[in-house]
Amino acid sequence: MPHYRAVGDVPPKRHTQHRRPDGGLYREELMGAEGFAGDSALLYHTGVPAAIVDATPWRPADLTTHPNIPLLPRHFRLPALFDGTQPGTQPGDIDVVTGRRLILGNADVRICYVVAGAASPLYRNTTGDECGYVEAGAATVETVFGTLDARQGDYVIIPRGVTHRWVPDPATPLRVYVIEANSHLAPPPRYLSRHGQFLEHAPYCERDLRPPAGPLLVTGTDVEVLVKHHHSRGANGGVAGTRYRCPSHPFDVVGWDGCLYPYTFNIADFEPVTGRVHQPPPVHQVFAGRNVMICNFVPRKVDYHPLAVPVPYYHSNVDSDEVMFYCGGDYAARGGSGIGPGSVSLHPGGHTHGPQPGAVERSLGVESVDELAVMVDTFRPLELGEGALACDDGRYAWTWADGDSRRHRAPNNTEHPITPSTQ
Ligand SMILES: [Fe+2]
Repeated sequence: MPHYRAVGDVPPKRHTQHRRPDGGLYREELMGAEGFAGDSALLYHTGVPAAIVDATPWRPADLTTHPNIPLLPRHFRLPALFDGTQPGTQPGDIDVVTGRRLILGNADVRICYVVAGAASPLYRNTTGDECGYVEAGAATVETVFGTLDARQGDYVIIPRGVTHRWVPDPATPLRVYVIEANSHLAPPPRYLSRHGQFLEHAPYCERDLRPPAGPLLVTGTDVEVLVKHHHSRGANGGVAGTRYRCPSHPFDVVGWDGCLYPYTFNIADFEPVTGRVHQPPPVHQVFAGRNVMICNFVPRKVDYHPLAVPVPYYHSNVDSDEVMFYCGGDYAARGGSGIGPGSVSLHPGGHTHGPQPGAVERSLGVESVDELAVMVDTFRPLELGEGALACDDGRYAWTWADGDSRRHRAPNNTEHPITPSTQ
């Protein structure tokens, strides 16, 4: 994160003695990015943050991916993955960490989805930052930095290596679209001054970000923590897991300061940029990672030139695959395609896409849209996860052809069988 925060009990001078009420020393931890040449935080623990007493393998969910061959735009109906018709798919049986299912992935990012009602195990992802977009429901996200209150429309940003767990509000199932970057996620550099302050043209600023307000202290012994990490053998998307047993609870931090910490940002606090004619996708950007960017499309007044066409032109994003998650309202450009709330579309690089037939004409004269969508653009091709194969509608590619379905095939057809990839 670009700006400094201090929470709880920290000493006036870094790397100096910081004593507990009983006279003992707190243990100082420097958590730093980019080889300690990037953002960092100093945390003060009551226990020893390095202490473990056991380690065993933990296998994360199936992260195998399959190439998108033949190259097709696709529509995935995510709600079908958690409709309760399969054993063990009731939200009360599922947690955000172990129950998420892989939709799309490549060497830079994994996009997952989960509907959960159970508290997750303690967990940290050492492959990169996680961004959990809360489609519906609410949760408390407990972290070593303190507690985040996550509500509908929140992006929950958990930096790489931060131990945390998701505790859903029992009132309604928690639906989370999880973007696991294999890098750090941050506001785009063009939004920031050279010292890291949000500039006036940025669509959000420091006041919109909600970090933990205070420390979270939990006592416990013999505590399990699941750790997701890279391995080099290619299997399961190059991702493995380890289950640590810790002699004391990792939530033992009495204070921290720095520019590296978890936080939330609500999509309703994104101020859209509008114009007389259609604005290009970069105006919708929220976060950037390595070879991946996150944008959102929010309710807004649309183009006000007297001859404006409010829905997008056909476009070829030749260097990127584009993934849209339709999480609210009505997305006018996709009218007639079958896409609805909870849908994901994949528009791969190499395929021109734009409004479905009739959408341009229907948009003329419209003054505002109520659409809500989260978009991920990647700069390397995405492959299909097991979740995608389980909810591909098999028809989307043909929806621009005025209903001509002569080429309609199931997505995993026998003419071009989809086979696993090791990335
Ligand atoms: Fe697009």
